Order: sequence, then structure tokens, then C-alpha cells
Amino acid sequence: MNPESSFSNDNREQLEARLQQLKSSYEQILSQGLALDLTRGKPSTAQLTLCDSMDGILNGNYLTENGTDCRNYGGGLGIPEARKLAADYLGCDPKQTLVGGNSSLQLMYQCVLYSHLFGDADAEAWSREAGSDKIKFLCPAPGYDRHFSVCEALGIEMIPVAMTDRGPDMDQVEALVQADPLIKGIWCVPRYSNPSGVVYADSTVQRISKLGNIAGNNFRIIWDNAYAVHHLVDEPPELANILELSRQHGTLDNVYAIGSTSKITFAGAGMAFLASSESNISTLASHLSYLTIGPDKINQLRHVKFLKDNNTIKNHMDQHKAILRPKFDLVQQHLDKAFAGKSLNGEAMGRWTIPKGGYFVLFDTQPGLAQQVISLTGAAGVKLTPAGATWPYGNDPNDSNIRLAPSFPELHEIDAAMKVFTLCVEMVTLEQALQSG
Ligand SMILES: Cc1ncc(COP(=O)(O)O)c(C=O)c1O
Repeated sequence: MNPESSFSNDNREQLEARLQQLKSSYEQILSQGLALDLTRGKPSTAQLTLCDSMDGILNGNYLTENGTDCRNYGGGLGIPEARKLAADYLGCDPKQTLVGGNSSLQLMYQCVLYSHLFGDADAEAWSREAGSDKIKFLCPAPGYDRHFSVCEALGIEMIPVAMTDRGPDMDQVEALVQADPLIKGIWCVPRYSNPSGVVYADSTVQRISKLGNIAGNNFRIIWDNAYAVHHLVDEPPELANILELSRQHGTLDNVYAIGSTSKITFAGAGMAFLASSESNISTLASHLSYLTIGPDKINQLRHVKFLKDNNTIKNHMDQHKAILRPKFDLVQQHLDKAFAGKSLNGEAMGRWTIPKGGYFVLFDTQPGLAQQVISLTGAAGVKLTPAGATWPYGNDPNDSNIRLAPSFPELHEIDAAMKVFTLCVEMVTLEQALQSG
């Protein structure tokens, strides 16, 4: 977040005049019939185009290194070369990986569903242990709305946990899991959290890797490394290797580390993968065999031929960065221009993140205003992620978080959308200040 800016002391008349000005600008915008969208973290067409050469890359050669014909059934764990790529990406041994499906969300859902209904390896299903009580998950918030939807879909109670600039508040996390053995998991987006952009500090990763030793049975860390290589800066912050730390602490069964190429190659036609202990991988693979007679190995082979190794991925992601960086810079310019150095009623008019990677900027209005801002921008043709979406049950206790996602729109659209956004924020902040003053 930007530091609280210095005080700017407008008097009431000036504030009223400014509010009138903003209202008439807003009226003009209403008549423009804008249709802009800053809601979802989708790659832009230019980013997708970076991978067009994947189409046809196999050139009729469907065989893997070990001679498997990718056109046929089988290979539930993924083809060996894709498992190697996933292992290098996540930082573990290929034997600890499973590559399957097009979506990491699907794998996460399967892991949670499986632990809930059946249990990994010799573990007892969470639902059986809970009996008539509810299983609970810790949800660092603000967080990723689709994680929360998985819990809601499975009837798992969500407990919000505070996010700090070092990751989840670990004092809170440890106290909660120690006190309640029915807390069975925690959602983590460790590098460039969605939406705060936070990168978990080494000490946080250390403490998370030991949770399995203090939590109830069969606790699971869903380590969603969705933005592992999605940097916006040239010298990205490091992230400690949870798989390695968990191996050292004897807690590897407690971790599912997950990633995908959704925002590296094609969103929706990428390759998803997961790493854990070998025994978890083998039980998960047998569970997945009820759902499919094998993953899309042709897509895996295409990905391996295109992405090759970590170094090639890094060079490829530099091209993504070149497309994304100007968009994030433009958002920052608008926020700086509108709010840097401005406070009202002794409080910054807005606070926001300057992410080093990922897909989002998190903006905080003064308390109680996010919903109003989002409905005003929506009425003016600028769609934003619904207020509260980044909180369990859609409930942002301060009604202040707004997630901005500038990856998909073109620069001129971001420019237009941010003008509307900053205007609406200023308008509702002034209105509230004048009402309370
Ligand atoms: C944190 C996080 N995890 C997972 C996903 C979805 O990934 P996939 O397309 O691999 O399901 C997203 C997409 O926005 C995300 O932000």
C-alpha cells in the first residue's frame, strides 16, 4: 500500500464545489454509453498470441520420449516429460507430481473433494471425522473468490484470516489450527496473492510448512502457485520452497502445491499440475481414474515442446511482462494522480498496492464505500469485481476492498475505465465526508 499521504485541508465550500464538479462529469460519462470491464484476471489477446506457434508444433509426432502414443488412452499421472517440467517448475522430484487437466482449479477442487469424501492414503475422510459438525478451512482474506466457492460448494465453513504484507497472519493461523482439529485446510496463493499481490516471506512459508505437525489429522495446505512466474519487475522476490521445507519437517502429506499454464500459454487450454508426497499422488491418481481414462496427453506434449524448461518459461514470461507492465503502470498513474497526497477526514482517500507480479491491483476505499463505488462505476459502464467477492461469503467487513484487473483490456480502455473509477471514488468519499462533517 502507498503510505498515508499528507493532509490536504479543503474547506466545506470547496469540497461542495468539487463534488458538484464531479457529479456533472459523472452525468456526462453516463451519456457516453461506455462498456468497459476490469473484472477478471484474463490474459489479453496479445498475450495469447505469444503462444500461437504451439498450434501444429507436434507436426505429426505424437510419441513421448518413452514411446507412448499420446493419441491414445492412459497415462493418468501425465507424460514423463510433462511431469519433469512440472517438477522443475514447482521445485520437487517428478515422482511427486501429477499432470492432468486444463485447470488448476479443477485439481484443487478434486483434492478438497477427495479429502472430504474419501481421504488420502490411509487417512479418514474429513466428513466422517466431522460427523454432524462442519469441516472448516482457513481463508486468508482478501483472497481468491473461486477458492471460497469450492468451500461453499462442499459445505465447508470458511474462517477468514488476516493477510499481512508477509502473508497470512501466522499467529492467528497457528492458534486457530491448534484450537480446532476440524480446521482441515488453508488456501494459500504464495507469490503475488490474488488480489493483494503479497509474496509470502520465508518465515511465513517455514511456519506454514510446520502446520501439519500442530493441526488436527489430515490437514491440507492448498498451495496455489498460480502466479509463480508471472512477474512485473525485473528482479522478482524469491519464494521459499514449501515442498522442500515440508519434506524436512515430515509434513509432505499435508501439502498440495499446484500450478498451471493458464496464464503462460492458453487460458482454458493450458496444462495443470500438482505436487505432494508420492503416496498422496498415487491415491489421487487412482481417484482421478474414476473420472477419466487419462488426461489430454497431446496438449501436454505440445506444452513440453513449446515451454521446454524453466529458462524458456522465464524468457516467455518476459514477453508477457512487456505487455502487462504498461497496463499496470497506467493504473498506478491514474491512482497517483487522483489520490497521492490526498486525505479527507484524517484518512487517505484511497490506498492501493503496487504489485511486483500477478494480475491484480488491490484498492482500498475509506471504510464503507466499496460497494457504492462499484455500483456507480457499473452504472457508468465500467464493470468491476463485485464488492466483497474477495472475502468468504462475499462479506468484506470494512466494505473497502476493490480488485482491479487490468490484464485483459487495451491501454485506451484502461485509461477510460480508470478515469471513471477514480472519479467515482472521489465522489463517494467527498459525499461521505460532507454528510458526516
Ligand atoms: C489464484 C488463482 N488460482 C487459480 C486460478 C485459475 O487457474 P486455472 O485456470 O489453472 O484453473 C486463478 C485464475 O484467475 C487464480 O487467480
